[in-house]
This record gives sequence, C-alpha cells and structure tokens, in this order.
Amino acid sequence: MKSMIIDYLSDVLEDYRPDDSGEQASYIPELAHADPDHLAVCLATIDGKVYAVGDPEVEFTIQSISKPFVYALALEDRGFDTILEQVSVEPSGEGFNELSLDDLGRPFNPMINAGAITTHSLIGGDDWTEGQRLQRIINGLSDFAGRRLQIDERVCGSELDHAHRNLAIAHMLRNYDVFTQNPPTVVEGYTRQCSLLVTARDLAIMAATLANKGINPLTGKQIVSARVVRQVLSVMTTCGMYNSAGDWVTQVGIPAKSGVAGGLLGALPGQVGLATFSPKLDNHGNSVRGVRIYERISRDMGLNLMEIPPTVQSVIRNTTVLNEGMGEDEVCVYALQGSLRFAGAEKIVREFSNQDIYEPKVAFDLTDVHALDRVARRMILEVARRLIQDGKKVYLIDPDDVIPAPNADHHADPHLKLKTKIEVVRSRSELRKEES
Ligand code: DON
Repeated sequence: MKSMIIDYLSDVLEDYRPDDSGEQASYIPELAHADPDHLAVCLATIDGKVYAVGDPEVEFTIQSISKPFVYALALEDRGFDTILEQVSVEPSGEGFNELSLDDLGRPFNPMINAGAITTHSLIGGDDWTEGQRLQRIINGLSDFAGRRLQIDERVCGSELDHAHRNLAIAHMLRNYDVFTQNPPTVVEGYTRQCSLLVTARDLAIMAATLANKGINPLTGKQIVSARVVRQVLSVMTTCGMYNSAGDWVTQVGIPAKSGVAGGLLGALPGQVGLATFSPKLDNHGNSVRGVRIYERISRDMGLNLMEIPPTVQSVIRNTTVLNEGMGEDEVCVYALQGSLRFAGAEKIVREFSNQDIYEPKVAFDLTDVHALDRVARRMILEVARRLIQDGKKVYLIDPDDVIPAPNADHHADPHLKLKTKIEVVRSRSELRKEES
C-alpha cells in the first residue's frame, strides 16, 4: 500500500504552489539569486521515518534556524544560570534585527539577532577561540542533522559584505559588556553559523531530534539533554516567529523557527519534526508558503499544542476478583488503560481514597497502559505503597515493563515503613490458584 501521508503532503504542497507572493531576502544579495520556485515539505517521525515531497534535497542556508540549536549547545556548555544571566527569554515583539536590550541590559531572547550573537559568543568556555566555537557549532548542528554540514562560502561572503546591521548590534552588545570579545570576530562566526547548508530533509530530522528529547532518531545519539530541549522548545514557541509569534501560536501552535533563506522548522514534542522550504518571505522574514503550509497541516492533522488530547473515558477499565472465596489468595485486580499522566493518575488515587478494599491482595493490570509519564508512575507506585502500608500484598501485572523497577525508590518516603515490596508478574494467570 502506498502511504496516504505522502499523498496528503503532495496535495498540500500543490495547493500552495501557486502562491508566489512575498519577496526573497535581498539584504544578503546572494539569497536574492535563489530559485523562488523551490518548494519542499518534510515530516520526520521520532523513530526516524521521513516523508518528503517537492524538493527535499535542495540545499539552502540555515540562517536563523541555527539559533535554537546554538542556544541548545550554549545551555549544554555553560549551564542555565550563566546563559539566562546573559540572554532573557521574553518575546520582544520586534523584528529579528532590532537593536534592543531589556531593563537588565540583556538581549530579549536568543531568537532575535542580539540574543543569537550573544549565545554564539557563549559557546564553549571563556578561553575558546572563534575557530573553536565555530567547530563546536558545526559539529553540534551536524549531530542534530545526522550528517556532516558544510558552510556556503558565497552566501557567507555576501552577508559579511553587508553585515552593517549585525555589526551595529554586536558593537552595542560589546558596549554594554554583554560579551567581551571583538565584535567583528563574533559577527563573522555568527554569519558562518547562519551559512551552514541544509536541506528540508535535514531540518525535519533536526526538528525530530528536538521532538525526541534531544535524541537523533537516525543515529540514536543524545545530542543535548531533555531539559535543554524543553527550554529551547519553550523559547521557540514564544519567540521563534519574531513579531508574528502570537499569530503563529494561535494558528499553528507548533514550536518553530524560520530562516531568511526560506526554511521553516517545527518540532512537535513527542510526535514529529516538520520542515518546509520556499524562499519568498513575508514582512516578518518568514517564508510565505511555509507559514501557510504549516497552518494547513496543523489544522488538518490536529497538531496545535493547545489542542486538547482525547482523554480515555475511564482509566480503570474494570475491576475483577481472582480466586474468589479463597481467603488469603483473593486478589482484587484493577485493569488500567490508556496513556497516563497526572489527570489519569489522579482518578486512580481518587478511586482508592474513596473505597475500602476487602481482598488481602491487590493487583494493577498494566497490560493496556501504553505509556505513563514520571508523575503518573510516581502516583501509582505511591498508591501501591500505601496499600502495602495498610497490610495488602500488591502486584503489578506488567507484561511490557511500562513501570520498570517499581521498587527502585521503595524507601524514598521515610514515613512509609514497608515490610513487603511490590511484586511484578507478567500475566493474570500467575496470580490464579487452582481450587482444591
Ligand atoms: O542575522 C541575519 O541577518 C541572518 N544571517 C539570519 C536572519 C534570519 O534568518 C532571520 N529569520 N527569519
């Protein structure tokens, strides 16, 4: 069977191909020569399947889409405190190349040029040379893409010949001691960072790496920590589309970043990485067709982060008693279901707080639980521990190890002095007793 996803993406691409509105970035003369007809849409899943239509292999410069990735590397290199001291995370409501600082003398966020030039300068350590910083950035972004990226020297040279605005920003930053390096050196490094060549396919993989908690789905390599990814996605959500961030969140609702060469990257946590490429830009500096395609895909596929996920009617599917009438061997089995997070686990806690259990043994059947986050895990184990404290014997029926090592933090709560541990079995039949 041919996948309907490819058919769908092709239809979307053709629907927006006729829209030739917008202008190519001309402040970097070389970008004005790019073919305006190039158009690509790519979707990468977090297990590495890529759906690509149009021109997914055409290379273009990454430009501002490098910013969230360099921010991620800077957070890894320097830690949150240092980076947040130097660069804030507030939407500026201004264009990407505004000369501005907040009340504390910091750039507003790492997605506008002032913040991005600063995060570039923070890569590595204080004693690093510009060459070392750039190498770290090329290696890091290549890791995100899962292949070696190269600099487009022509686009880089073309931007450097006209980099007056970024030089002004860098001199402003130096003047206020936001960084101490030589401004033209930092701008040259930042411009080289922006001139890395990528394809729409690369961007989809880079996005999927963010969506996958920092693990590249093609190489399996953890590039940055899950905590860093959460920070980066948050800033992309509020600041990634500059002064159209509000429209973007309401219409699309996917953490995203655009670049003036026409790339547009979106990362939907836990689901997919997306990328579009089309060179003509709107007056915010975002790809016209790219924005429209994202709006359409988000609407059609329900990808807006604010979309309320379907909730399971009941997290406790049913309750049965095994070995009925067999005294000490009676087990009350609670079959749980769905993907559990706080709200689902709260229903379980509430159920147990509201009733008395007469059977001496209690089992949680997790066969139909597909996933649970750390909060739901903790809450369910806490219910189990409190049952043990009340004198029950507790089992997890867990064929797929959705709660690995349930006793690992068994003694975490000093108030609970537990005599027995939670026992794990693979199926209900292990709990059944033969009637004698
Ligand atoms: O700093 C610049 O001007 C460029 N190298 C990058 C700007 C950019 O991509 C803005 N995004 N839409």
